[in-house]
Amino acid sequence: MSESKFKIVAEESIQPIKFSFNKENLSKAKDILKMYPPNYKESSIMPLLSIAQFQNDGWLPKKAIEYVSEFINVPEIKVLEIATFYSMYNLSPVGKYHIEVCTTTPCMLRGSDSMLNLCKKKLGLEIGEVSKDGQFSLSNVECLGACVNAPVVKINENYYEDLDSQSLDTLINKFQSNKPVNHGPQSKRKGTEPRK
Ligand code: FES
Repeated sequence: MSESKFKIVAEESIQPIKFSFNKENLSKAKDILKMYPPNYKESSIMPLLSIAQFQNDGWLPKKAIEYVSEFINVPEIKVLEIATFYSMYNLSPVGKYHIEVCTTTPCMLRGSDSMLNLCKKKLGLEIGEVSKDGQFSLSNVECLGACVNAPVVKINENYYEDLDSQSLDTLINKFQSNKPVNHGPQSKRKGTEPRK
């Protein structure tokens, strides 16, 4: 799989000059730290990066990585290693709705190519691009861990499952018109119950 363009560190001109958790996220971060023994603070890197990314419109600037390393007093390289390894962290700006299409085998067998092509055509985007209006960005990812409900697409923090071309098209229409959406299976089944 080709490296996602969103894993490339954003150019200097768009890097913010500072980052710190807002009041609400600072409180969340302190609660997260309490979940780990003091000698395992590194274990909190992933949830801390997640709230930093959420606060910064879906991507992690260099200052956020620096901030998390200082927040838990671990070398910056440890934080950077995690931010660059896992596909859920973006190092450059994404759209308001960041679409990640799973293209690993179970999803591929259940039609992920069609899902990806539909997104490309409907939104006029290639993988790694952000739409001009900043509303959508598109990425392909490895297994999202919900294969039983393949094909699966992740949009921001939620999973949309049991998709077909029609339900994905409807979903994108709803995002485009700011209508409420239900995450989870887009078929009639609940969770992972057997198909009727
Ligand atoms: S292969 Fe797509 S969720 Fe596992």
